[in-house]
This record gives sequence, C-alpha cells and structure tokens, in this order.
Amino acid sequence: MNKPLALVTGGTGGIGTAICKRLCRDGMRVVATYSGPSRQLAAAEWQSELVEMGFPIETVMMNVASYDDCVTAAAEIRNRFGEVTVLVNNAGITRDAVMKKMAVEQWKAVIHTNLDSVFNVTHQFIDGMIDQHFGRIINISSINAQKGQFGQVNYSAAKAGVHGFTKALAQEVARKGITVNTISPGYVDTSMIHAMSEEIREKIKAQIPVGRFGEPDDIARMVAFLAARESSFITGADFAVNGGHYMH
Ligand code: CAA
Repeated sequence: MNKPLALVTGGTGGIGTAICKRLCRDGMRVVATYSGPSRQLAAAEWQSELVEMGFPIETVMMNVASYDDCVTAAAEIRNRFGEVTVLVNNAGITRDAVMKKMAVEQWKAVIHTNLDSVFNVTHQFIDGMIDQHFGRIINISSINAQKGQFGQVNYSAAKAGVHGFTKALAQEVARKGITVNTISPGYVDTSMIHAMSEEIREKIKAQIPVGRFGEPDDIARMVAFLAARESSFITGADFAVNGGHYMH
C-alpha cells in the first residue's frame, strides 16, 4: 500500500510543525502549507531545518482564506505528490479585541482564515478521498469555541463554526471510508499565546488544572491517533486537549 499523503495547512507554524513531524514519523508523506509570498523564505528555511533533522517534508504556498488560491495550490499538490488522503485543517490566526473595539477587518480576517478556509481547502480534496474510499479530515478548533473567550468574538465564532462543519461533513461521507473530527486545543505554548500580555497569560495559566500550557506535541499526538487507519469508527467527534481547562 502507498504511504498516505498528509496535508497540514499552516504546517510551518507552532502546532503545525509538531503535527508534520509526527505524521512523518508515523510513515506518511507530508506536505505543509504556508500563507503567502512574504513567508516563502521562512518556509524554505523551515523545510531545510526539518530535512536536516530527518523529516523529508514538502512545502506549498496556499492562502487558505482564498478559494481561488486553494484551487491553484491543490492542483500543484496533486501534480507533484498525488491525492491527499489525510487533511489537517490547522491554519489559523487571532485578532483579539473586545467587541466594542473590534474593527470589521479583524472580524473578517479571522472568519476568512479560520472558518472559510476549512471549506476552501476541504472542497479541493474531498472527491479524491471519496474515489479512494479512504480519508481522514482533522479540523483544529479551540477550547475558546467551546467556552467562548473574552476578547475573541471573532475567533470563538469561527472555531465553533469549524465543529459544525465537522459534524455535517462527517455524516455526508461516513459511508465513504472518510472520518471527520475536530480537536479543540487549550492554550498551547506557541507564538499565538505570546501575542497576549504576560499578565493575561499568567492569569490564564493559573486556570489550567494540570498547571502548564500545552506543548505542540500534545496536539500532534491526538492528530496522529485520529489519522490512523484503525480510527475508522471515530467520526463527527470533538476532542478536548486542554489540560483540564474546560470540561463539558
Ligand atoms: N472577564 C471579565 N472582564 C474582564 C476579563 C475577563 N476575562 N478580562 C478583562 N476584563 C475587564 C478588565 O478588567 C477591564 O475592565 P475595566 O474596563 O473595568 O478596567 C475591561 O474588561 C477591559 O479589559 P482589557 O483592559 O483587557 O481590554 P483591552 O482592550 O486592553 O484588551 C484583549 C482586550 C486584548 C482582548 C485582552 O483582554 C486579551 O488579550 N484577552 C485574552 C484573549 C485570549 O485569551 N486570547 C487567546 C489567544 S491564544 C488562542 O486563541 C489559541 C487558542 O485557541 C486557545
């Protein structure tokens, strides 16, 4: 059997990198996407570092917020590597502000990048998965979709939408050998949480029962579990990986 081809959107970022390495270690071919020309150099450096570390991961530019860009990037991916059967919709941004101070651009940027993207990217690969009668779609949502978060009406709304998408698509493709699941990470130690002030970060840390922020590997481990062929009876589910920060 051919090695599955995994696509990790935002694969060069904090959690993305851990996911790429883990799937590669698990015997998959892995393609990581990055957002645009301004990240091209950084992505090339990232790739050489990983190759040196023994992870032969490929990169493709894909602005997940743009449907047309996804069409073009998907054609490149198919030509260079073949059909994607493991898709991790991981790309995401924050533009935090309280509602009364939030600009419409902050709302739109987060909805386009964190929610529209899940449609834009998945739409490119769903037919291929149906043809192969196998697919694993793993959508990265957030604890803040589950509980809401002060200063994040945009992010909480987009990430909650991601799980609605998961549940609807899971039903549509369940008979086709494709599973669709959501992971809802808590606060993970990446640049995203360092965009918050130290004071707020420390307050949040104090709310986490295990007493630490998550590590990117904590999330990658769950991705690997869901991506496995053996996980065929798990679909439409949402997995909290949050150190006990929110239980429901
Ligand atoms: N609940 C209730 N009230 C709160 C509050 C809370 N959690 N936090 C702050 N307030 C109050 C403040 O005490 C303040 O009250 P007063 O006006 O009476 O003094 C008022 O709300 C305004 O708060 P700020 O001064 O904090 O407002 P700001 O405009 O300076 O900052 C903010 C707003 C940037 C959104 C800031 O609150 C913030 O960074 N919040 C955290 C956002 C967050 O958790 N982001 C997660 C990033 S990581 C991520 O998203 C990954 C993931 O999936 C988990």
